Amino acid sequence: MGPRSANRTEPSRMLPRRLAPLLPNSRLLFRSLNPSLAMSPADAAAAHLTTAPDPDEDICPSPAASAASGAPAAPEEIAPPVPTPLPPPPASAEERVERAWAHWRRLGSPRLVVAPMVDNSELPFRMLCRRYGADAAYTPMLHSRIFSENEKHRDMEFTTCKEDRPLFVQFCANDPDILLQAAKLVEAHCDYVDLNFGCPQRIAKRGYYGAFLMDNLPLVKSLVQSLSENLCVPVSCKIRIFPRLEDTLAYAKMLEEAGASLVAVHGRTRDEKDGKKFRADWDAIKAVKDALRIPVLANGNIRHMEDVKSCLQHTGADGVLSAEPLLENPALFAGFRTKEWKEDGNEDGDGGLDPADLAIEYLKLCEQYPVPWRMIRSHLHKLLGSCFRVHPQVREEFNAQTKLTFEGLHDMVKRLKELGGGIPLYRDQTSLQSQIVSNGLAASNA
Ligand SMILES: Cc1cc2nc3c(=O)[nH]c(=O)nc-3n(C[C@H](O)[C@H](O)[C@H](O)COP(=O)(O)O)c2cc1C
Repeated sequence: MGPRSANRTEPSRMLPRRLAPLLPNSRLLFRSLNPSLAMSPADAAAAHLTTAPDPDEDICPSPAASAASGAPAAPEEIAPPVPTPLPPPPASAEERVERAWAHWRRLGSPRLVVAPMVDNSELPFRMLCRRYGADAAYTPMLHSRIFSENEKHRDMEFTTCKEDRPLFVQFCANDPDILLQAAKLVEAHCDYVDLNFGCPQRIAKRGYYGAFLMDNLPLVKSLVQSLSENLCVPVSCKIRIFPRLEDTLAYAKMLEEAGASLVAVHGRTRDEKDGKKFRADWDAIKAVKDALRIPVLANGNIRHMEDVKSCLQHTGADGVLSAEPLLENPALFAGFRTKEWKEDGNEDGDGGLDPADLAIEYLKLCEQYPVPWRMIRSHLHKLLGSCFRVHPQVREEFNAQTKLTFEGLHDMVKRLKELGGGIPLYRDQTSLQSQIVSNGLAASNA
């Protein structure tokens, strides 16, 4: 995320208009009522209402429409939702488990999943990963209170399209009613409403959400129940593990009993913040998988498809989530690896994928599905990291640009391509993805 505060121009309009009037129009009010509010990334994105303009917080325009009208384009509006059906009637534990599996199967049993990433798992990036093998994706974490109160924030932070499925929309929350209000706004546009119980950052501590709710399991339970009893889409939870396995298992079972239909387990504790320093505990994930009856996804240490295979074998999980490795290599789930993980060290093999070409593909998706420039900036840094390392002056010029344009960005990528030196992504010799699919390594337990 750009370090500066926010401002933007024309918001995209992806949520059904008819829902907007149901919400209090309290864009400024909510901050003045609670000035001590912790500034999460989501808060920061909403803060443009009170702070100086920053072009990085503007939504990028769609050039095709701008050219026609001379004005920034209004993005494609998603079809209005069908009238929300009533939530399913209360079910026995057996029925809930059956429904959870039936839903998972209806979605095609997605196994290769883009993890939630603030400012990074936005629509164009999700679509890029889907093109390269991802079966499903999470939105970035959305702040339930700000989301439910602030239409402008919703328009900016949540966009989707009909191809963007299966989709998990993730919220952080600490109030069941506010959470439900936010979730109701997205339920027609997603396949799961997800709860973030994993964020270990200081900002989550101050805002009292994410992994800090592990200290208040009754509240966690009420959040899950509030959604599972009132939504017509299933509820999923993304959790971290406790230091003691028995606590992790009791926690996971409580989530299932409260009505969660899927649990994604990040195999690190709340204190193990640095993913590079601490390996995810796949044994703990396996224990959760063995203890639960609903689908379980594993998260942590998934850097390439060989890891996917090992993780599914080790844990028995029904799928995996990958986050940081996808930022550098969005083609991970199609069997591509960065040089770091290339087994034979030979860089001359064919089938290489130029990161600059992926950057161009990503830019085109941003033109189609506008997002704030700060997200584009962040992705280009990661996607073009190997090029920038060889040509740091191009990176410096990029950093110096306060106002980005697609034309300028395409020129920069073209220049990097001409200069050469970026390290291609390599495809594994054998297509591990097709092996996994055909061998049914992650075959569902149901
Ligand atoms: C840039 C970034 C943003 C993230 N934002 C979120 C988030 O919004 N919600 C969440 O549950 N986890 C978030 N995470 C954590 C990841 O979803 C994931 O649990 C963690 O990075 C471990 O997976 P990995 O080893 O594949 O990176 C974020 C991680 C990164 C790198």
